[in-house]
Amino acid sequence: MADIMPPNMLNERPRTPAGLLSNQEKDRLIERGFLGLYRWYTARSQETRNWNPDQSFDWRAMSKTLPPEIITVIQGFFAVEQYAPDFTSQLMHVVRRSHGRSHFQLRWGSEEEKHADAWENAVLFSEQRSPEWIAEYKERLRSQVWELPFPDAIHNLAYTVFQERATQLNYLNMMKIAQGKSEKPHLAGVTDAVLAKVSQTIAVDEAAHYNFFLEGLRMYLYYYPERTLESIKNVIGQFSMPAAQLVPDWQEFYETVYRAGIYGPRDFNRDVMQIAFRNLGIESRKALEEGIKKTREVPDFDGANHKTTAIFDTFDYGQVEGDVRRLHVKIQEYEKSFGMDRLDPTVFVENPAVPKKDGQAADD
Ligand SMILES: [Fe+2]
Ligand SMILES: [Fe+2]
Repeated sequence: MADIMPPNMLNERPRTPAGLLSNQEKDRLIERGFLGLYRWYTARSQETRNWNPDQSFDWRAMSKTLPPEIITVIQGFFAVEQYAPDFTSQLMHVVRRSHGRSHFQLRWGSEEEKHADAWENAVLFSEQRSPEWIAEYKERLRSQVWELPFPDAIHNLAYTVFQERATQLNYLNMMKIAQGKSEKPHLAGVTDAVLAKVSQTIAVDEAAHYNFFLEGLRMYLYYYPERTLESIKNVIGQFSMPAAQLVPDWQEFYETVYRAGIYGPRDFNRDVMQIAFRNLGIESRKALEEGIKKTREVPDFDGANHKTTAIFDTFDYGQVEGDVRRLHVKIQEYEKSFGMDRLDPTVFVENPAVPKKDGQAADD
């Protein structure tokens, strides 16, 4: 609203109903949560996932006889990950005012950049693509720019939650194939310890990314349930993997991934959407869509927050509150570890709009 109202009208915006948090206060709390989470994340990342794309793997030992389907897949993984600078810079623009989120985006970008280099090494050391071929392919990829799938921060945050989980799933399934566990006849007997380790190492990073963005989205869900559920609904309605429009041989990659049993629409529904929904206290896509529809039917006479109670029927707000509380405990413990708790601790503040256990909103 602010950008379409002349400045002299800003004071005439509807006031926050008594007893509820103002948007400004909610934004401050979410920002504080992100900052604490980012600091915790960085320490943990450096301590437990400080691997190197060249030095952490025995590249010379990589199999030179992998089936062509496997090379197509790892080449596609490389193609997507090598847009890391675009992902980072584009996302940075929408969150640059947030300390926690923009600094995190740099850290995240540095991890995605390692994924690109590790997958490129995998393509090279498979010895089924020449260095010249790789250089030319990379040039083709880099001649295009990845753009944000959505214009605003909340939609992109929701998108990233699903995207990170989908990516993690892709790599875990590649790991299983490289461990000789594929049930597909054309991939039976494939084993490569190096490829298995690369896939696993990157999948662990993707799981950490998923968790970061999930914790962030949960904070939004807790303080801004309606806007957040709407964003989730929009994102799953048009979900596709990043850079699908940019990678020149995407169709072949996608079909190979599907035939290899790595990833497809069913996997998205079952192992991405359902998992993320469970983590967000959302029962199902149907429940989400119906909940939002119901919320819209509730009259909103004067811009006050009458919608509040209806939206809380759409998800398990008790579960989400518990998770946001636990996030704050984790942040507080981290802050205690270096004495920050004494000077500037991150504090959890309840959203008074969240109904209490007897089903009544706190402000009723
Ligand atoms: Fe990645
Ligand atoms: Fe990631």
